[in-house]
Amino acid sequence: MMRVSCLNNISSVGLNHFTSNYQIVEDQNQSELILVRSAKMHEYPINDNLLAVARAGAGVNNIPLDKMAQAGVVVFNTPGANSNAVKELVVAGMLIASRDLIGGFNWVKENKNDPDLQKNVEKAKKAYGGNEILGKTLLVVGLGAIGGKVANTGVSLGMKVLGFDPYLSENARRMLDHNVEIIEDLYKVYGDADFISLHLPLLDSTKNFMNKEVFDRCKDNVIVLNFARDLLVDNQALKDALSSGKVKKYVTDFPDSFVANLENVIYLPHLGASTEESEENCATMAVHQLMSYVEKGEINNS
Ligand code: MLT
Repeated sequence: MMRVSCLNNISSVGLNHFTSNYQIVEDQNQSELILVRSAKMHEYPINDNLLAVARAGAGVNNIPLDKMAQAGVVVFNTPGANSNAVKELVVAGMLIASRDLIGGFNWVKENKNDPDLQKNVEKAKKAYGGNEILGKTLLVVGLGAIGGKVANTGVSLGMKVLGFDPYLSENARRMLDHNVEIIEDLYKVYGDADFISLHLPLLDSTKNFMNKEVFDRCKDNVIVLNFARDLLVDNQALKDALSSGKVKKYVTDFPDSFVANLENVIYLPHLGASTEESEENCATMAVHQLMSYVEKGEINNS
């Protein structure tokens, strides 16, 4: 019997895929297998029995990969299993930022008891007007499972889409709409983009990817979307770019207090992958990865 522990709440639909040879236990120090979502595994000791860890999600920056490799523990993630959920939220973020839906919503909330509400709607129309995304340029940085879908959706919404990915696989390239223009030199196109959406993993080399130099090259009033990882954006450079008007809005799924205190930031509490469908997909994929590894020695990460 293999013992499995869940460091986070993992969808029961996924857990039900375990056969009777697997038992869910509370104590991770006793288990051969671990399922994790966002818990920081750097803070957990690695027990001698541990064989494999599966992350029900794409990013693995909450798992100490070096430590796992040294201990011979295999680490899986579930790329693609939550990509539609994240893509849909990125598109929502783009629309919310372009049309000031938050301003409009708050206006109605604040004025809902005003007897002249209907009359004052004209003022709100002026204050919370916006722009359409049709015909605008979207730059997608990183064309993996999520970035590729964001790029294709941008095309279907009538946007001009530029995509950058120095590690673009043949398979990912095949999945892209032929109207996505693949860019070789990012620096040359920052100034063309009305929207920039980040879809990079967080690595030492991508930390502060959006820094002062990058912001300086952007078009005035660019809208930046970050549903990937908070540390991809340099906080001070972002603050300066928002106050100078270089960045019109920053839409982020990572609400730390620094960002939450800035003007023109729309922040969400890491909701990108939080749909019922995505949680079920990720958990199901992770459970099958663990069982295939234990039973057949397979290391299957796609
Ligand atoms: C991911 O890396 O895929 C997301 O962070 C998933 C999550 O919200 O757990």
